[in-house]
Amino acid sequence: MPTVKYIPYNKLIDLQAGTNLLAATGQSGIYLEGDCAGKGTCGKCRVRIVEGDTVTPTESEKKHLSQSELDTGWVLACQRPVNSNLTVEVPRHKDAHSRKTTLTSGAKLLEAEPAIQKVALSLERPSVKDQKADLERLLRTADQEHLQINLRELTALPALLRNNRFKVTMVHDDYRVISLEPGDTSDQLFGIAFDIGTTTIVGSLIDLNNATVIAMAAATNPQNVYGADVISRITHASQVEGGLKQLQGKVIDAANQIIRQLLKQSGIVRDRIYEITAVGNTTMSHLFMGIDPTYLAPAPFIPAYGRTLEVEASQLGLNINPSGKVLFLPNIAGYVGSDTVGVILATNMDQRKDNCAAIDIGTNGELVLAAGGRLMACSTAAGPAFEGAEIKHGMRAAAGAIEAVNYSNGQLEVITIEDAPACGICGSGLIDAAAALLQAGLIEPTGRFVNPEENPERIPKEFLGRLRPSQVGYEFVLTPAVESDTGEDIVLTQGDLRELQLAKGAIYAGLMILLKEADLKISDLNQVLLAGAFGNYVRKESALTIGLLPAIPPEKIIAVGNAAGDGSCMALASKTMRRRAIKLPEKVDHLELSTRPDFQDIFINALSFEFSDKL
Ligand code: FES
Repeated sequence: MPTVKYIPYNKLIDLQAGTNLLAATGQSGIYLEGDCAGKGTCGKCRVRIVEGDTVTPTESEKKHLSQSELDTGWVLACQRPVNSNLTVEVPRHKDAHSRKTTLTSGAKLLEAEPAIQKVALSLERPSVKDQKADLERLLRTADQEHLQINLRELTALPALLRNNRFKVTMVHDDYRVISLEPGDTSDQLFGIAFDIGTTTIVGSLIDLNNATVIAMAAATNPQNVYGADVISRITHASQVEGGLKQLQGKVIDAANQIIRQLLKQSGIVRDRIYEITAVGNTTMSHLFMGIDPTYLAPAPFIPAYGRTLEVEASQLGLNINPSGKVLFLPNIAGYVGSDTVGVILATNMDQRKDNCAAIDIGTNGELVLAAGGRLMACSTAAGPAFEGAEIKHGMRAAAGAIEAVNYSNGQLEVITIEDAPACGICGSGLIDAAAALLQAGLIEPTGRFVNPEENPERIPKEFLGRLRPSQVGYEFVLTPAVESDTGEDIVLTQGDLRELQLAKGAIYAGLMILLKEADLKISDLNQVLLAGAFGNYVRKESALTIGLLPAIPPEKIIAVGNAAGDGSCMALASKTMRRRAIKLPEKVDHLELSTRPDFQDIFINALSFEFSDKL
């Protein structure tokens, strides 16, 4: 049985001979990107074999790794079955989550109106003249005689009352007693709102007594070893024995890791967390709950359920108060999930009477249109380009990612997150780079790089040598090797531009179909809301330059941050908001774009960087 030693983590695991190194790394709990789920096409699962067998590189490794990388032991983990002992160096994962947490600690959400309440009680002591049973005495004192109680709390009740001089705190919702605690703990009432993203999971710890966010934490969704997109995850759940359990285990582990971080940051004990709300796309909600998502993948894209699900946290293995509960908000359709419900709630779109669109830019672009009181939604397969996948040097937004590119006075300025040496390019940098190179005249409206051999006069001399031939078309050097963190040139390739065109074309076409359905024109839109933390970082001008957004005045484009997560927080802190969220799917008309014969024409028109905005 071979052993793999991971450095710098100093972790050893024993494996069955032949186990794939990417799968083994996932089992070990060490984070490794695997955007293509081991197909060998993304090139993201790089590790270095420090000791052990070196084997002939596969075609995929030759494509994604330079000769000097191959010579120094770099491999793609997904291409390596482990047949003998190995020492493997895994690049340290840079924190890619800060952009997902857009609420700030201390943010007051709205008026506190929690579904779970606490009441400190001082009970009359029993006597021969008052022989009421303990439970009835408790509920009568609280004036909540209709409440149910579970056996665990009831079993502990007699001793709890007598050991605490009949002074206890009752935690309850509208239907049942959740917990009984000694003394007065009424000032400690907490819940956690989760946004379960395909890429990133965010948790916000909320003081339910005053609806205030007191701590936030995030983690990469560790399901990513089974692929970056929801289809890869559904495939793993449906085709691999035990796959659904693996995926659920990963997301629950990550949620528990976030809970631990939140408790550490705040100094609160886990038993004071009584409720969790969660939003996510429909696939994520199925996987979180351990429900088979198989029939979401093929047409007609049918989820197992749509409504709000409420279960005990302990059933899912979530480490909060053992009697605490989890509420996953409802889905609208197979590819429009409760994350969109969260966006609508947080942006008040269901209350608006004007015309307004919200775009949640991600692997699945989810779009909502409020059209004079009517609500419509659709999802469009934008692909993972904005998350950095399928982009040669793509990465998530973390230190060293190129996040902005400015072009002025004939000069390009490349800006990285935290001003760290460049190690890749994230979604906002990708959009900016394309916009800047379009302005510099280095990209044709069709999306092709200008051929410097055919048109040398079109290449400003500052850029000579930076636009160069590659294996497939041309590529542009954004940061040269001497300035980069990786020791290699960070480039934007022709293939990257194609991925970007597909992504932006899909989002644009989705919006156009919604407008068409509502009989509206672009000029009828009062606002376009960019949801998703990514929206905070996309420069409106660049998004308009490349045609990701329709041609409307930039002041009408508003970044609203991680609205899905904010909606989860609101549904946790307020019963009124929760009721609204639960009813939202009934009010939203879902449009299935795959049934629209006009989608393809609009999409193809929108692939170009210079196209007509006419419907
Ligand atoms: S190349 Fe290995 S996971 Fe994509």
